[in-house]
Amino acid sequence: MLVVTPNTCLDVTTWLGALVPGTVSRSTRTVTVAGGKGVNVCRTLRVLGREHRLLGLAPRDDDRLATLLAAEGCAFVPVPHDGQGRLSLIFLEDGGRATVVNGLGPDPGAWDPEALLPAVASALDGAPAVACSGSLPPGLPDDTYGRVVELAHSRGVEAWVDGGPAVLGAALPFEPDLVCPNVGEAEALLHGRADEAVEESGDDLVDRCVAAARELHGRGARRAVVTAGSHGAALVTAAGAWWLGATRVPVANPIGAGDSFLAGTAHALLSGASDTDAVRHGTAVAAAAVQHPSGGMLDAALVAPALAALPEAVPA
Ligand SMILES: Nc1ncnc2c1ncn2[C@@H]1O[C@H](COP(=O)(O)OP(=O)(O)OP(=O)(O)O)[C@@H](O)[C@H]1O
Ligand SMILES: [Mg+2]
Repeated sequence: MLVVTPNTCLDVTTWLGALVPGTVSRSTRTVTVAGGKGVNVCRTLRVLGREHRLLGLAPRDDDRLATLLAAEGCAFVPVPHDGQGRLSLIFLEDGGRATVVNGLGPDPGAWDPEALLPAVASALDGAPAVACSGSLPPGLPDDTYGRVVELAHSRGVEAWVDGGPAVLGAALPFEPDLVCPNVGEAEALLHGRADEAVEESGDDLVDRCVAAARELHGRGARRAVVTAGSHGAALVTAAGAWWLGATRVPVANPIGAGDSFLAGTAHALLSGASDTDAVRHGTAVAAAAVQHPSGGMLDAALVAPALAALPEAVPA
C-alpha cells in the first residue's frame, strides 16, 4: 500500500531529567530517526509484513531522511524541495512526561506544491490502497488529502485519512474509506474545541467518541473511527455503531499509538477482515506498539495476546 505523508521530518528525541521552560537543560541522550506520522505507519506495516511505500517531501541538499529510511528498509518516494528539512523535537523526561515541538515544514517558495498530486498519481500505480497521514506543509491546501482520496477512488482503490482537524474536515466531502482522529482532534473539527489533550478521560468519554464518529460518518467518512488512547475507540459505518475497548498494557511510549492503530486496521482491511474485526486488530496492534519505546515499532509477538485480551465490539 502507499502511505502519503508530505510533511516528513527528522525526529530528534532527547532524554533529560526534567524539562524546565525558560532554563538551560542538559540531556542524557539524543537519538535522530526519520519521522512524520506516515513513517510510523510504515514501521508498523513492515513489522506486520505488509508491503508498502512512503511518499513525502525531502530536502534536496540533505540526504539524512532518505538514508535513515533506507536503513530501516522503508521504500521512499521523495518529493524534493530546496528548503530546510523539517524537524520534530521530542523531550522525554525521567518522570515519563513527553513534550513534542513539531516543525512547520518547508516554505512553499522552496518547492512546487503542484508537484505533489502528480507524484501521488504515479506512486499509486499498483498500490491496493492509500493512507494519508499527518500534517500538511505550508502551501498545500487543506483539501490535499481529499484530492488524494478522489485520485484513489478514480483508480478503484480505498483511501484512508488521518490528519489534524482542518485537513480531516476538508477530506470528508471526498468520502474517505476510513478516518481515525483521536477524540480531541474530532471534537476540535466538529465543535471548534481547541485543546488537544494527550490522554482523554471522563465518564462520558465513550458517548463523546460515538457521537463524534456518528458526525464524521454523517459528513462523509465511510468508516469513522474516533480513538481515545488507553480507553479504546468508536466505529461508525453505514451498518452501525460500536465501541471497541482497549486492553490494559504496560506503556513504554504512547506516542504514535494512532499511527500503529491505522497501520493495524489497514493491514486487516487489506486481508479481508470485517470493519469491526479490522478495528479490533488495529487496537491490538496499537496495544503492542505502546509497549515499545520507539514510535510505530512493536514486537509482533505481542499482537496475538493483546487481541485475545480485548473485549468484543459492543454495539453503541
Ligand atoms: N495506553 C494504551 N494502552 C492500550 N492501547 C492504547 C493505549 N494508547 C492507545 N492505545 C490504542 O491506540 C489507539 C489510538 O490511540 P490514541 O487515541 O492515543 O491515538 P492518537 O492520539 O492519534 O495517537 P498519536 O497521535 O500519538 O499517534 C486507541 O484507540 C487504543 O486502541
Ligand atoms: Mg493520531
